[in-house]
Amino acid sequence: MTGEVNLPTLLASIHPVVREGEYVYVLWPHGRPLAAGIEAAVREAEGLTVVLPREEADRLGLAYDFVAAWITLEVHSELEAVGLTAAVGKALTDARISCNVLAGFHHDHLLVPVADAARAVEVLAELSAESRHQPRPELVLRNETKADRAAILALTAEAFAISPATGLPAEGEPVEVELLRQLFDCEEYLPEFSIVAVLDGEVVGHVISTRGRVAGHELLGLGPIGVTPRLQRHGIGSALMYETISRANAAGESGIALLGSTEYYPRFGFVPATSLGVLPPEEVWGDNFQLLPLAVWPGGVHGTFRYAEPFDRL
Ligand SMILES: CC(C)(COP(=O)(O)OP(=O)(O)OC[C@H]1O[C@@H](n2cnc3c(N)ncnc32)[C@H](O)[C@@H]1OP(=O)(O)O)[C@@H](O)C(=O)NCCC(=O)NCCS
Repeated sequence: MTGEVNLPTLLASIHPVVREGEYVYVLWPHGRPLAAGIEAAVREAEGLTVVLPREEADRLGLAYDFVAAWITLEVHSELEAVGLTAAVGKALTDARISCNVLAGFHHDHLLVPVADAARAVEVLAELSAESRHQPRPELVLRNETKADRAAILALTAEAFAISPATGLPAEGEPVEVELLRQLFDCEEYLPEFSIVAVLDGEVVGHVISTRGRVAGHELLGLGPIGVTPRLQRHGIGSALMYETISRANAAGESGIALLGSTEYYPRFGFVPATSLGVLPPEEVWGDNFQLLPLAVWPGGVHGTFRYAEPFDRL
């Protein structure tokens, strides 16, 4: 899909354009070869309806009643986009303008009475402006509370239903769910580093960092991090990462370690932990074990990273 499907975005950018000329609906004479000027056609059991320029219908001697202006909504909407036609139809109905809708592959087209064309464009422009000014739901990042935990565990189960490590469906409950249950109750739990992303009252993402150590030096171990699948790739994971990094700097933490994709985490400044002298708990993790040195990273650290105790039970 390449077109827009989000209704407020679609409405905000409908961009109505009036085509030149007047258009009419006619019943095409049975058996007559189609003419070149036809702009749209609908085949029904009773016959073929076509839309064509009025002058063309006159030239062909075809009868019509409804003389329309043709308005194209230039926004590129997907055919699957839900609600655009209904919203446009309602706005025009409220303004007492009748309207026939034709959906093309790229755009929607409205045929309105010629006399109402200018007013229809005004109504559509107002609808578009209203949508632009509607408050968008805001993503809130805050500390997790006990009341959030059921929702966090549910979204983690969904996010890890396909294991990011193997790419295969998890058998039963993903291990990250039990890991989280235990992290919530372990000694290394740090309340300000268990952060939820909330959209319109729904918990849609979560990240946790717990106390980790390397050679007696304290740092954070980040993970798991998960975003509700239907909202992945909308920046929520990045927002949770940046929030964690900002809080960690503010709290005087020295660094953040994690196991994860070498394509995702370097964008936040993570580097292979071994390059900073920090070895993964399991050697096979290689460069996937990454570290972000923060403002007070001491340097000269050398040793194997230890996650919070529940990670040892995995
Ligand atoms: C990983 C995850 C937390 C990222 O959150 P998100 O909200 O989807 O990510 P964002 O929208 O902030 O970032 C999207 C970008 O990250 C990339 N990305 C996301 N997950 C990735 C992954 N596992 N590997 C590589 N790149 C990834 C996307 O390709 C996209 O890149 P682009 O901006 O260049 O197109 C989320 O996808 C998720 O919950 N995944 C399933 C669970 C998981 O894998 N957790 C991490 C392992 S602990």
